Amino acid sequence: MTDDLIFLGIESSCDDTAAAVVRGDGTILSSVVEGQVALHADFGGVVPEIAARAHAERLDLCVERALDQAGLRLADLDAIAVTAGPGLIGGVLSGVMCAKGLAAATGLPLVGVNHLAGHALTPRLTDGVALHYLMLLISGGHCQFVIVRGAEEFTRLGGSIDDAPGEAFDKTAKLLGLPQPGGPEVARAAEQGDPTRFPLPRPLLDRPGCDMSFSGLKTALLRERDKLVAAQGGLYLQDRADLCAAFQAAVADVLAEKTRRALEIYLADAPDTPVLAIAGGVAANTRIRARLLDVAARAGVACVLPPLALCTDNAAMIAWAGIERFRSGGRDGMDLAARPRWPLDTTATPLVGAGRKGAKA
Ligand code: KG4
Ligand code: ZN
Repeated sequence: MTDDLIFLGIESSCDDTAAAVVRGDGTILSSVVEGQVALHADFGGVVPEIAARAHAERLDLCVERALDQAGLRLADLDAIAVTAGPGLIGGVLSGVMCAKGLAAATGLPLVGVNHLAGHALTPRLTDGVALHYLMLLISGGHCQFVIVRGAEEFTRLGGSIDDAPGEAFDKTAKLLGLPQPGGPEVARAAEQGDPTRFPLPRPLLDRPGCDMSFSGLKTALLRERDKLVAAQGGLYLQDRADLCAAFQAAVADVLAEKTRRALEIYLADAPDTPVLAIAGGVAANTRIRARLLDVAARAGVACVLPPLALCTDNAAMIAWAGIERFRSGGRDGMDLAARPRWPLDTTATPLVGAGRKGAKA
């Protein structure tokens, strides 16, 4: 039995420095996440060099705190799991170097983990979801549908060919003078708005398949904003609310229809207990969440939404994905490489876009 395995997880692929200790039965003994929002605030996005330096400075402290909070020492661990990609290469390298140092010093096994596999396997950690299930990842940096068949077996059905939806929410907020992160701000303004006043497009709905595109939406919104500014010299609060509502409705429509299609493909595979799992910051949007729950219910599929703290970047998911990989024999040596790109499904056509937070596949 491997339920008593204890793994340290390390995550540093974007702008969160994280370490966690997780047991093989799914108990999270500790999970430390240090965000870097303040460090990048003046630059309008994540600066890779600043991120990498901060990871290098903070990782060992995060590891120490994670061990302390778990009440354990390095000697109590069974292995070290680390994000080896995809992501901003300097950050990924910081994590991999830290993990190699710990493995060399302790003699513990080293397990390299795909960051996206960490997200995709989270419903197994939080809800014990059985294989195989459909995963929709919608965050500031990711947007894809994957069928999760095993710790290292994924079928990608589609994803965004440009911006991730959270990124589109953030850019929309910026265009309308709302603070960052923009998702919750746009959602709040949208509550007072009329989603039908501005006819925003529903990108790629006229094409078959599950690929999505969100960057055109923001351009269409910019055009509507500029028309108003030219006509009346600025935006009234109601204009802003209506623009937010129109944008949110367009994103919700696209996600709902593409999810319906993805479920159709997934169900054709005859899963034993069909499950749609949704992760990422955008899953916090009540309108979008309600639409997706409705699509799943209509298809007769149960929906699992892991707690938000485990949907956004963290190291518990990396420790867990490491445990799952380790159980099926996955191990790495000191030649473990940091990879900027690392698609979950190597047979799928690569995504074209690489947005604000770096490569998405
Ligand atoms: O999962 P997460 O932390 O993403 C990455 O770091 O990649 O999610 C953050 C993203 C941000 O873009 C944020 O604006 C968006 O999720 N977000 C929302 C909401 N809450 C957070 N988007 C729409 N509606 C929300 N309520
Ligand atoms: Zn992530």
